[in-house]
Amino acid sequence: MPIRILPIADTSPVVLPEPLGFGRLFTRRMYNRRFEVDRGWFDATIGPYDPIVLSPGAQILHTGQAIFEGTKAYVRPDGRLGMFRPDANAARFNRSAERLAMPAVDPVEFVDAIETLVALEREWAPRGEGSSLYIRPVMIATEATIEVRASRSYLHYIVLSPAGPFFPGGFQPVAVRVEEDHVRAAPGGTGAEKTVGNYAASLYATEAARAAGYQQVLWLDAVERRFVEEAGAMNVAFVYDGGEIVTPALSGSILPGITRDSVLRLAPDLGFPMREARLDVDEVLADIASGRITEAFCMGTAAVIAPIGRFGRRGRDVIVGGNVAGPVATRVYRALTDIQYGRAEDPYGWTRIVDVDAVRSAA
Ligand SMILES: Cc1ncc(COP(=O)(O)O)c(C=O)c1O
Repeated sequence: MPIRILPIADTSPVVLPEPLGFGRLFTRRMYNRRFEVDRGWFDATIGPYDPIVLSPGAQILHTGQAIFEGTKAYVRPDGRLGMFRPDANAARFNRSAERLAMPAVDPVEFVDAIETLVALEREWAPRGEGSSLYIRPVMIATEATIEVRASRSYLHYIVLSPAGPFFPGGFQPVAVRVEEDHVRAAPGGTGAEKTVGNYAASLYATEAARAAGYQQVLWLDAVERRFVEEAGAMNVAFVYDGGEIVTPALSGSILPGITRDSVLRLAPDLGFPMREARLDVDEVLADIASGRITEAFCMGTAAVIAPIGRFGRRGRDVIVGGNVAGPVATRVYRALTDIQYGRAEDPYGWTRIVDVDAVRSAA
């Protein structure tokens, strides 16, 4: 589907603020296209980043029928921009859409829309360790009705956010509190998809953990409240005896992270065997206390790898790896970000270079 490029009013040179922060600044353009059941997808445009006009009856505001994705473009040493596995985001976007009875997108068009927008907004991509152009594709239900059923019209849009490091303290361990009262997702629910409602459901426990001095929540399974699922909005992994990495097996209520999947492929090549298993929280905390677990870390697009230094449960804390970034997490972080930023060869075919000249000359 051809994308119409609309003019924007503000074409003054881009000046990025210092420090950039994470996720609060947006670029001047956005991508939009609409869907109606009897027309399919139509009217793909890239134009000004403007407010979205919605009927107060729009279904997104009532049923929460909405999904999103998160990926990044990275500035490489030669100044070109690379995207990391956007095809995997397209596939997950479609799995999320199906789960919420929303229309599928053509994966090639999904990636093309990202690439075109990123190429037009090239000047907004920050350089520097941990900095990137964060890409946020969204789909929302726009039909005005208070009937509870799938909408017949949708908006798919993409916005870009120049982003500094997710954790301003840099590659420092975070503290995570085991959550026993609330669950993020249940079997048969939407936890394995990236639906907006999952995040609303996570906020109460996350804010409570923050007020108690932790940065993230360790989510347990909804049925037995016993098996480790995720850490905040990230997947989680534990390092046993300084070498073997174990991550919770996908349970149906864990989001299959693209970073997690990449680490599963990459870590063995770095000499760290990695497996998926059901992890009992009691055993995990006991293995941390005994020193068998030497490191723990989170995995996700925003932070890439975030070491965990402290777990809290029922008012007691246990320190992992001396509360410093451990060698395995550091090595995995370095190897993965070297591929993402184009500082190292990509033997996995994960990176896709944005063809800025081709997009701009066609626009
Ligand atoms: C709940 C949740 N788990 C895990 C992840 C990590 O997924 P990815 O590595 O694809 O960013 C995310 C972020 O997308 C998330 O929101």
